[in-house]
Amino acid sequence: MASIETPRELFVHKLGAALTMEETILEMLENLQEEASDSKLQRDLQQHHRETQQHVANLQQIFQALGVEPEKQSCPAIDGLEKEGKQMIKEVDDSLVDSVILGGVIETEHHEIAVYDGLIIKAEQMDDQDIVALLHENLEQEEGALDKAVKASEQSAKQLVSS
Ligand SMILES: [Fe+2]
Ligand SMILES: [Fe+2]
Repeated sequence: MASIETPRELFVHKLGAALTMEETILEMLENLQEEASDSKLQRDLQQHHRETQQHVANLQQIFQALGVEPEKQSCPAIDGLEKEGKQMIKEVDDSLVDSVILGGVIETEHHEIAVYDGLIIKAEQMDDQDIVALLHENLEQEEGALDKAVKASEQSAKQLVSS
C-alpha cells in the first residue's frame, strides 16, 4: 500500500526532502568557501550560507505551522549535484576551480527554484497564505543567488578566454 495517500502528506514529504536539500547545501557552501580563490566569490558563498540558514529555519517554521515534527526525507538530486561538483573540482586545473564552483551554484539554485515552485503550487492549493509567504521568501533568495552566480560566471568566462 502507498505510504503517501493525500496531497497534504505529499506536501509534508516534499517539505522533508527540501529540508535535507537545504541542510546539504549548508555543507556544500562551507566546503566551497574553502575551495574558492576569488574573494568576492568567497563572500557571495558566505552570504548565501547565511540565507540558507534562514531557508532551513523557514522550512522548520512551516512544519510547525502544519503541526508536524520536522522529518527529513532523502533527496538524491542534491546528493548527485554535490557528488558531481566534488568530482569536477578534483579533475580541473586550479585556474578553473572558481568557474566549476559557479557552474555548480547555478545548477543547484535552478534545482532549488524548481523545488520551491513545486511546494508553492501545493501550498496554494491548500490555501495556506502564511506557508506560501515563507516559501516565497526562500524562492526569492534562490533567484537572487542564481542571478548573482550567472553574472559572476559570465565575467569569469570572459576573463578565462582573454587570459
Ligand atoms: Fe536554499
Ligand atoms: Fe540556494
